[in-house]
Amino acid sequence: MVLRPDSTPSLVSPDISDRTKYADTPLKLGILASGNGSNFEAIAQAIKAGQLAAQIQVLIYNHPEAKAAVRASHWGVPAVLLNHRDYKSREDLDGQIVQTLQQYNVEWVIMAGWMRLVTPVLLNAFTNKIINIHPSLLPSFKGMRAVEQALAAGVKITGCTVHLICLEMDAGPILMQAAVPVLPDDTPETLHARIQMQEHRILPAAIALAEQIQKYVTI
Ligand code: GRF
Repeated sequence: MVLRPDSTPSLVSPDISDRTKYADTPLKLGILASGNGSNFEAIAQAIKAGQLAAQIQVLIYNHPEAKAAVRASHWGVPAVLLNHRDYKSREDLDGQIVQTLQQYNVEWVIMAGWMRLVTPVLLNAFTNKIINIHPSLLPSFKGMRAVEQALAAGVKITGCTVHLICLEMDAGPILMQAAVPVLPDDTPETLHARIQMQEHRILPAAIALAEQIQKYVTI
């Protein structure tokens, strides 16, 4: 790319005052989880270890028995149950999610094993600020049972993807990926466990990266 002397590059220069300002401002995260919550735990650990300048404002979960809620209470994070069965439509549930996230001053929404389709109600309230983790190398094996899909396809390498959410399922801009070998004796459980080790590494890293993108890039 050739820039004319008077042209403005799309990267906004990261001046010192900007950096100082942001260094003192942890990202305010809202985490959505439906089940075990090991990715919630990985984010909390990364924050504690000083690898991610963030704070978890709230966990929203949709299954009353989700272990993620137990983990949240261990970390002293408020956990709000929004059971999808209590809402007439996906839009109604997303409306309540938006209200809850705003009530807790959330800036970034992290879907860490959130097993619900997203509607424009949530997307439009947090444009380009919703991050998802998916257990495959997207665009391969979208949707449910991605690990089983990879095994059935006979691929030798699969992995995980962190991406921004858009209306189409598992299709938004990719922030980070990690590859994982498929071993001959793998079951869905052994392969998923190997993938999750990488999820726990790249999800916190990608959250930090996403913030850099928002700070310095004019979209
Ligand atoms: C992860 O494998 C994630 O990729 C998928 O759901 C799983 C959630 O795991 N979307 P956990 O609840 O964080 O342990």
